[in-house]
Amino acid sequence: MYRLRVKTKSVHINTFGCQMNKADSELSLGVLMERGYRVAPDEASADVILFNTCSVRQRAEDKVYSRLAQLRQRKEENPGLLIGVLGCMAQKEAGAFFKRFPHVDMVCGTRMFDKLPDLLEKLEGNGKHLLATGEAGNITYYPKHRPPGRHTYQAFVTVIRGCDNKCSYCIVPSVRGHEISRSVDEIVAEVEALAQNGVKEVTLLGQNINTYGNDLAGGVTLGTLLQAVHDVTDIARIRFVTSHPKDMTPKTLEAMAALPRLCRHLHMPAQSGSDSVLERMGRGHTVEYYVKLIEEARRLMPDITIASDFIVGFPGETDRDFEETVRLMKAVRFQNSFIFKYSPRPGTPAAALADDVPLEVKKQRNQKLLKLQSEISLEENRKQVGKTVEVLVEGPSKNDQRRLVGRTPQNHIAVFEGRPDLHGSLTSVEVYDSTSLTLFGRFSGVLASSPENPPVVATTEDR
Ligand code: SAH
Ligand code: SF4
Ligand code: F3S
Repeated sequence: MYRLRVKTKSVHINTFGCQMNKADSELSLGVLMERGYRVAPDEASADVILFNTCSVRQRAEDKVYSRLAQLRQRKEENPGLLIGVLGCMAQKEAGAFFKRFPHVDMVCGTRMFDKLPDLLEKLEGNGKHLLATGEAGNITYYPKHRPPGRHTYQAFVTVIRGCDNKCSYCIVPSVRGHEISRSVDEIVAEVEALAQNGVKEVTLLGQNINTYGNDLAGGVTLGTLLQAVHDVTDIARIRFVTSHPKDMTPKTLEAMAALPRLCRHLHMPAQSGSDSVLERMGRGHTVEYYVKLIEEARRLMPDITIASDFIVGFPGETDRDFEETVRLMKAVRFQNSFIFKYSPRPGTPAAALADDVPLEVKKQRNQKLLKLQSEISLEENRKQVGKTVEVLVEGPSKNDQRRLVGRTPQNHIAVFEGRPDLHGSLTSVEVYDSTSLTLFGRFSGVLASSPENPPVVATTEDR
């Protein structure tokens, strides 16, 4: 009698885009591991290669296209290799992938990650191109165990999927669909399990997290969720992103201020400092309201830091509009800003407007804002010198393996000399120097230590 020997398949996932994608890649690996897959040590040795993709700007898409083109020959040499495209580009391009890249086996949209084992099984059964981008889908299953992310002691927890806003430049609502919140109980249970497995910091994720709960019964809000996660679990740090100024309220800020383990940091994109640009962007908030929120946040939490996103070169953005953005940046003094050159996305309302700011001007504005932000970051970081800060140690510093790197609750990156066994510990660090990006310090004590550090499996290549 023959005995069937089934070799366990190994899977590698390349992650592009935002933190939501990182969380979805972890979820995908989690469900696949539950069904017997192994995480491959690298792409070259994997039996299944997945790309979790981003459509937010053209550059993000181009990266995936060029990586997919590189795999054509490998697939010819090894027809058993399975290649899948997941996430936002999959949702947006759907079957077009198979025309352009016949060596892609599967295209799987933004609400199908939990169905991946079944989809791969189906694919192995008939070997044909498999398209799974069902519009009405929802993620209904979250694996109990998932592989660790980039930093073992930090985990992302998706709390609301999709986006019901209509920012005119943004592809997200069309590729990620309507808002669907997970229940408070489910989220709290997930955070509890993570905390029991040694996770110290969770970041609750939503494209527009301030509308969390709008679709749930019983008047559940982001404030309710923050309170529940804070009270029910003993997780050391809680963060949440991304805040939309239109939907952020003083009440949420009050809820935040009342919870000591909530990190004093907000990522709240302003996008522009010009009301007329904001209007055309369909943002639904004014510069004045934005500044008021920041003032209120700082009144309630004096040590809070604020990060923003800006888009330069939006259709019709004049020099004067841009100067207003410069003024806002100077007035608010962000800790950090992500600055993007406007990239028209097909099908969005803004794509119907002429992309009339020349690339050269977009580049100049981008450079100018980056330079200003870097000066502000340096000045603000200098203020930390001489202070003792709390750092959650993430691992060895990239530039100097003998040093450790981690973050403060205010999201400063801190580098300091310390023993490798401090990974995952909450430490206190005396800051003696800083640059615009980093605080440098001396280790001055352990606040809470950590268990063993498992290996790294998922990386993200583009924000
Ligand atoms: N709410 C989301 C936004 C995702 S997109 C979140 O979770 O952060 C991230 C940032 O990309 C946006 O804040 C915006 O600044 C930028 N962006 C979005 N669409 C863009 C486009 N068409 N061109 C350039 N930048 C864009
Ligand atoms: Fe994230 Fe948006 Fe990119 Fe999708 S399109 S990966 S939601 S940034
Ligand atoms: Fe995009 Fe605006 Fe939603 S930036 S993700 S439409 S909040």
